[in-house]
Amino acid sequence: MKERVLSGMRPTGALHLGHYHGALKNWVDLQSRMDCFYFVADWHALTTHYESREIIEKNVYEMVIDWLAAGLDPNQCTIFLQSRLPEHAELFTLLAMGTPIGWLERVPTYKDQQEKLKDKDLSTYGFLGYPLLQAADILMYKAKYVPVGEDQSSHVELTREAARRFNHLYGREVNFEEKLAQTFAKLPSDQVKRFEKSRKKFQETGDEASLNGALGFVQSSPLLDSRDKERLEGYFKGTGSSILVEPQVLLTKDSKLPGLDGAKMSKSYNNSIAMRESKDTLESKIKKMPTDPARVKRTDVGDPKRCTVWQFHQIYSDAPTQAWVQSGCTSASIGCLECKQPVIDAILAEQQPMLERAQPYVSNPKLVRDIVDAGTERARICARETMRDVRQAMGLNY
Ligand code: TRP
Ligand code: SF4
Repeated sequence: MKERVLSGMRPTGALHLGHYHGALKNWVDLQSRMDCFYFVADWHALTTHYESREIIEKNVYEMVIDWLAAGLDPNQCTIFLQSRLPEHAELFTLLAMGTPIGWLERVPTYKDQQEKLKDKDLSTYGFLGYPLLQAADILMYKAKYVPVGEDQSSHVELTREAARRFNHLYGREVNFEEKLAQTFAKLPSDQVKRFEKSRKKFQETGDEASLNGALGFVQSSPLLDSRDKERLEGYFKGTGSSILVEPQVLLTKDSKLPGLDGAKMSKSYNNSIAMRESKDTLESKIKKMPTDPARVKRTDVGDPKRCTVWQFHQIYSDAPTQAWVQSGCTSASIGCLECKQPVIDAILAEQQPMLERAQPYVSNPKLVRDIVDAGTERARICARETMRDVRQAMGLNY
């Protein structure tokens, strides 16, 4: 059984090379080794874009095309749409009951994003709940790993706390005490006494031998059925059962690819290169890139360290080309346009297979919808199962 991985992205615009190098490449890499679930977090997009629904609608399927272009293979991973699975909303609501508001107010992205996106009113209930909705996304699929960037690690941490709290509160059956008494009634009283004694010892001292002895006894007892055994084990260890699984973050290193102006690549900074950029706009964007300000005239020497184009070379060029840049720039034997050409060529070469993979989906959007439909139904099977367990644990199965 492969381990479960889950991650999502908000559909807020065409994906750019920063997304590709910072996240998608890693998603593609994981899909053959793990049981990967990747989803479009359209409700999360609404937390900040609730006034502009058309943006989200337009971007949902465009984003999935970018994923497929990057190399996600729907036969290897499960691609789905959050808003088609009301289970996410249900789990979010149920988790919300026991989640202290302070946990959410203390998540760093809460204040940061409110500061950053000053033009939007983010003092909403939905925005405060953003990380808890994310927790529901993750816990729904009992994901072991969540590949995200550093900025999301506090959300995964909150997810762990939510899971721990849930398991603590509801990890025991309804009417546990009564059922425990029924289980004990199946055993001779001297065995019950011995069990209780060794439980006490284990809980006080953590004594492994007591634990192993008791578990061995429970497992081999012909008087107990499997529910009894599970119940006694949980009681002995004092854990209850883990209904929700605490996930681990799988940190994706920040993309080393900056934006065209040297700042972080972002659509809103107008410094990005789309994953599926046309040849003409790609060329003109790179040609317009600022270079070392010391190179005013062609004959002025420069220093690659002061130039964003050099950072692109470090990702896209081989050693001989990099050496050519270093010596050409510092001796003014090459011009900046000349220097940019290998970068243009390398990005075009990187994009070529992406454009080819995207082509069938661009010309037949139904194919994309079918992929999302199929993935969503696969996810639904898992979501239903989790919600059945959750409802049962919370005593909601009446
Ligand atoms: N908050 C994530 C982001 O902005 C998107 C997201 C929503 C997500 N739910 C998730 C990521 C669950 C991982 C797991 O990038
Ligand atoms: Fe930048 Fe290349 Fe021009 Fe040097 S030659 S300033 S590295 S673009």
